[in-house]
Amino acid sequence: MVNAAVLGYGTVGSGVAEVLTTNRDVIRRNVGDEVHVKYVLDLRDFPGDPVEEVLVHDYSVILNDPSVDIVVETMGGLKPAYEFTKAALEAGKSVCTSNKELVAAHGTELLELARLHNVSYLFEASCGGGIPIIRPLNTCLTADRIDRISGILNGTTNYILTRMDTEGSEFDDALAEAQKNGYAERNPAADIEGGDACRKIAILSSIAYGKHVSYDRIYTEGISSISAMDFRYAQEIGARIRLIAESGRTDDGYYAMVAPAMVGESDPLYSVNGVFNAICVHGNMLGDAMFYGSGAGKLPTASAVVSDVVDEAKHLHETIHVNWSSDELELQPVGELQNRFFVRVSGTAAERAAEVKDVFGDVEIISLQAVPGEFAFITGKIGEADFADRAKRIEGGVIGRIRVFF
Ligand code: HSE
Repeated sequence: MVNAAVLGYGTVGSGVAEVLTTNRDVIRRNVGDEVHVKYVLDLRDFPGDPVEEVLVHDYSVILNDPSVDIVVETMGGLKPAYEFTKAALEAGKSVCTSNKELVAAHGTELLELARLHNVSYLFEASCGGGIPIIRPLNTCLTADRIDRISGILNGTTNYILTRMDTEGSEFDDALAEAQKNGYAERNPAADIEGGDACRKIAILSSIAYGKHVSYDRIYTEGISSISAMDFRYAQEIGARIRLIAESGRTDDGYYAMVAPAMVGESDPLYSVNGVFNAICVHGNMLGDAMFYGSGAGKLPTASAVVSDVVDEAKHLHETIHVNWSSDELELQPVGELQNRFFVRVSGTAAERAAEVKDVFGDVEIISLQAVPGEFAFITGKIGEADFADRAKRIEGGVIGRIRVFF
């Protein structure tokens, strides 16, 4: 029998208990042994819930029980998850988690601690919810040099952008809809301002390129300034607006960025709608691979957490290697990155096309007949800093700009 303890009986923690109960036979067959939840730690009581039988409020009960092999951290946040994870690893227990905040902030240190104590630290559920992506990067795509990762890594923002596209809603209404349906947190800042996707691309990039990518060095923009009008232009040119988290290597080095972008019909991310997530990986031998599925939610996320429990149960008292060194990966300054931009300006194309072309060179003009008083254009590839400088030369400034990824 393999004993596990679950820290936090919230959405994901209760999902872990449900997966382990519902799929008990499958899991027993895959592990070759029974996985038993010996403890659930939570500050709250759950009267009438079967969890009461194993509920504890004091973490030391778990830490001091040598029969607990695996600690499942589904508390989220940094405190006390960081201290609790360290203590479990130091006590010789493997840990698995869905906590992207903790993995992005302290992943290298916790992996090193796991190695020192001959146990494992796994975090499949931290990126892409139920989609297998960490394990494929770590164990399947090992014959390739990964050149690029590009993904939709946040279900809440993808739901909001999909609603804005299909319903013509403004951002605030689509956000309210997401909250009503339980997709967005009451405080949705981490999702809508891109911080959640930023942490996820930092984790994926660290594994793909083998060196630590600090999330706080990744240029990140959220979606709160995207408007219904932007979608009208996007539809006119056959594009969709999605929050894209991307990293990769160019001749000039590595880059990473999170920002809303227009994607064209031929891009696999174009068809990713609602709360779904997708991650495209390009390897120098493989070419393209795409991982698609349920990127959030109780059971998909719990399924990924339990896949780590299974892996750890099969490798008790040994370290499952994760290809993530503590050496820092240098990222190119954002100002040097080359992108195309969709830009909205006031006035009419007839009046202002010459001025725009004078500033940006050859551009593609888009005028919507039903939208008087403004028009848009798409630039050629231009450095980010160069774009910002040139945009200042547009009389009256620009109404908005979105990167164009096609
Ligand atoms: N808030 C996250 C999302 C949950 O919307 O994708 C899954 O990490």
